Amino acid sequence: MVKLALLALSGSLRTESYNSAAIGALEELSPDHIEITVGDVGMLPIFNPDLEHTKIASVEQLKDSLARSDGLVIASPEYAHGISGPMKNALDWLVSGDEFPGKRVMLINTSPRAIHAEQALREVIRTMSGIVVERAYVSIPLLGSNLNKSGIIQNTDLASALRAGLIEFCESINNHKGDDNG
Ligand SMILES: Cc1cc2nc3c(=O)[nH]c(=O)nc-3n(C[C@H](O)[C@H](O)[C@H](O)COP(=O)(O)O)c2cc1C
Repeated sequence: MVKLALLALSGSLRTESYNSAAIGALEELSPDHIEITVGDVGMLPIFNPDLEHTKIASVEQLKDSLARSDGLVIASPEYAHGISGPMKNALDWLVSGDEFPGKRVMLINTSPRAIHAEQALREVIRTMSGIVVERAYVSIPLLGSNLNKSGIIQNTDLASALRAGLIEFCESINNHKGDDNG
């Protein structure tokens, strides 16, 4: 089995966040050869281009984790038809670096009605030269379910959707290792 390292980011800072729960469930469901590091976008300062060349520990950590990862997993909510502020902020910190371009991205949408933020997120990722792996896309209806991480893992349909997405994602990464565009 080829070992893979993934960085996973939730775009919600809410304690009971469905997106964070989905990321947590994915981490627990992942097989041993896939190491998932869960990043924290809530620690980042508000993006300011004037600070891009200043060493900021949380920004350095995000960039290092992404540089060391073979792929990025994003689960992020929709607020007022837009990308959540914390997620957009994190992506803004990554725009000028060389960690993001060519990186494969797995998207998890925990609220299938939230189409606007997902479209916007896809556009931002494309603009930043990331590659959304379509066959790894997971849409799971968690909104209103009251499920936490354990509840998701115990739900056969949700757990198998996450596992299937992860396997497709890792296959895509392995199939394109060595490509110039990731
Ligand atoms: C301020 C605010 C605005 C929201 N706007 C939308 C929206 O435009 N479309 C939508 O589908 N859901 C919207 N929602 C619902 C959230 O996307 C939903 O509660 C989601 O589960 C939040 O993610 P989380 O559970 O990971 O925190 C909004 C929620 C809040 C708090």
